[in-house]
Amino acid sequence: MAHRWTNDLTRDDVTPEHLWLNRRQIIAAGGALGLGSIAAPALAETLEPNTWEEITSYNNYYEFGTGKDDPARNAGALVTSPWSITVDGLVDKPGEYSLADLTSGLSVEERIYRFRCVEAWSMVVPWNGIELADILDRVGVQSGARYVAFETVVQPENMVGVQRRVLDFPYVEGLRLDEARHPLTILATGIYGRPIANQNGAPIRLVVPWKYGFKSIKSIVRISLTADEPPTSWNKANAREYGFYSNVNPNVDHPRWSQATERRIGGGLFSSRQDTLMFNGYEEDVGALYAGMDLGANY
Ligand code: MTE
Repeated sequence: MAHRWTNDLTRDDVTPEHLWLNRRQIIAAGGALGLGSIAAPALAETLEPNTWEEITSYNNYYEFGTGKDDPARNAGALVTSPWSITVDGLVDKPGEYSLADLTSGLSVEERIYRFRCVEAWSMVVPWNGIELADILDRVGVQSGARYVAFETVVQPENMVGVQRRVLDFPYVEGLRLDEARHPLTILATGIYGRPIANQNGAPIRLVVPWKYGFKSIKSIVRISLTADEPPTSWNKANAREYGFYSNVNPNVDHPRWSQATERRIGGGLFSSRQDTLMFNGYEEDVGALYAGMDLGANY
C-alpha cells in the first residue's frame, strides 16, 4: 500500500500495529506525545488513515437516517452533554456513571485501525480511545459474567431515523467477555486527537476492529454484564444475514454479496478493490479467541 510521509505527529502512521498495541500513548492537551524511537523500523505494515473529512462524511448511523450523508447532516441535533452511562448486571459497582467518572484517569491511546463495514467498504481511522478492559476493571466484573451488552442513546426528538423506526431502537450490541477484554477493543472518544464527531458516535462508542463495523455501536448509554448472549440489532433484524460474531472473514460471504474484497473509501488515484483480510488483518492478535470454532456456522 502506498505510504504518504507526513510531519504531522498526530497523523504519524509509520509505527506497525503491534508496536501501537504495546504503546500506551497518552494524548496530552495540545497533541500526541512524541513517537520518537520506536517509529523507525518495519515499514512493511503501515496504514494510511482516511482524512477527517472522509471519516465524518460517509457514515452509518441509522438513528439519523439510512443515507451515507444523513448522519453528517442530521447528527448535529444529538445532545452529548451531560452524558451518563448506566453500568449494570453482573458487576461489583453498578450505577449511573457520568462519562467523566467512568473514564477519568484511564489512559487514552491513539489506535490506527482498519475499519471494515459489512457492506464491503472500508476506511482506516486514527481513533483515540480507552481499552474497554480498563473500564470493565473499574466497575468489577463478577465471575458469572460471560458477555457484555451495549445500548445506544435514544433521543427521539433529535433522531429522524428513530422517528421513522427504520430499526428496532435502541440499537444494541454485544461481545463475548474475552472479546470485550481483548486489548484491541476500545471505547473511542476521539478521532485525530479531536472529540469524536456526533455522526461517528459521540461522545463514546465501541471499536472492535476485527469485526464488521456494525458491532462498533455508537453513543453508548448502557453497558451490561450478562451470563447469556445478549440480543444484537442487526441479528434481530435479519438473523440469516447478520450473526452474533460478525468477524470479518473473506471466506464467508454475506448471503447477498461477496466478502472477499472491499472498496477503500477515499483511495484516490491508486484506489482499487482490495482483498479483505481474515479478521480484518488482526488474525495474529485474535485468531486464538476462535480456535476450534466453525466460522461458517458462527458468522
Ligand atoms: N451504532 C448505532 N447506534 N447505529 C447505527 O446505525 N451503524 C453501525 C455502527 N454503529 C450504527 C452503529 C455500522 S453498520 C457501521 S459500518 C458503523 O457504525 C459505522 O461507523 P462510522 O460511521 O463511524 O464509520
